[in-house]
Amino acid sequence: MVSDITLNGVSYAFGANTVLNHIDLHIDAGSVVALLGPSGCGKSTLLRLLAGLTQPAAGEIFFGGRQVARAGWSLAPEARDIGMVFQDYALWPHMTVAQNVAFPLKMRNLPRRECEARVSQALSRVGLRDFAERKPAGLSGGQQQRVALARAIVAEPRVLLFDEPLSNLDSELRESLCLEMAALLRQLGTTAVYVTHDRREAEILADRIVHLSAGSVAADRLISSSGEFA
Ligand SMILES: Nc1ncnc2c1ncn2[C@@H]1O[C@H](COP(=O)(O)OP(=O)(O)OP(=O)(O)O)[C@@H](O)[C@H]1O
Ligand SMILES: [Mg+2]
Repeated sequence: MVSDITLNGVSYAFGANTVLNHIDLHIDAGSVVALLGPSGCGKSTLLRLLAGLTQPAAGEIFFGGRQVARAGWSLAPEARDIGMVFQDYALWPHMTVAQNVAFPLKMRNLPRRECEARVSQALSRVGLRDFAERKPAGLSGGQQQRVALARAIVAEPRVLLFDEPLSNLDSELRESLCLEMAALLRQLGTTAVYVTHDRREAEILADRIVHLSAGSVAADRLISSSGEFA
């Protein structure tokens, strides 16, 4: 099941430094929204609030009508039914590819046979079916990020969150993985929020680009399927 996301007046501060200033945003179920903006404008902070890694100072966040955060309270990340992909892959080095991908399913106590089927499907989706028994250290950066992607989608979460997942890769790989991820997101139909400071990446991946500037929404544009501004 996918869900829409609503932020009502969400603010966040590090001490006296207001990082997000009264953000109002509605994200349709199944849409892919890119959060674009310069370094330090609050993109990662907003994503961390959606993930439940931190709590808002003011305002509320809803996933599909369910409140997941308000001032001083936040539903734990593992209770939110989300998948996340970070810039640095964040794989467990001691686990094989298959064990890394299976991890979110282990948390859900799924039967072993279903686990194996889902891991195998997720690895196929990211083109890594033959790498199941490798350790992350034996993979390239692009392959490691594919593992992280498989781990994010394996439990079919209601929301996918991405924080600059391609920025550690060289430009050619970035372009090809970006196109693959765009296709995968269309196929999955999961609501996704994708943080980047790369406008081209945002245009390829997203249905809509929300520009953040100094903690506020500065612009909000729909993208047509051809990658042109609507
Ligand atoms: N742990 C922290 N303590 C204090 N200030 C912080 C902390 N983390 C981030 N900030 C500040 O919050 C603001 C927003 O940071 P955030 O990481 O959300 O930006 P960003 O848009 O993701 O930037 P980038 O594109 O560089 O990743 C910045 O001014 C940053 O300096
Ligand atoms: Mg960031």
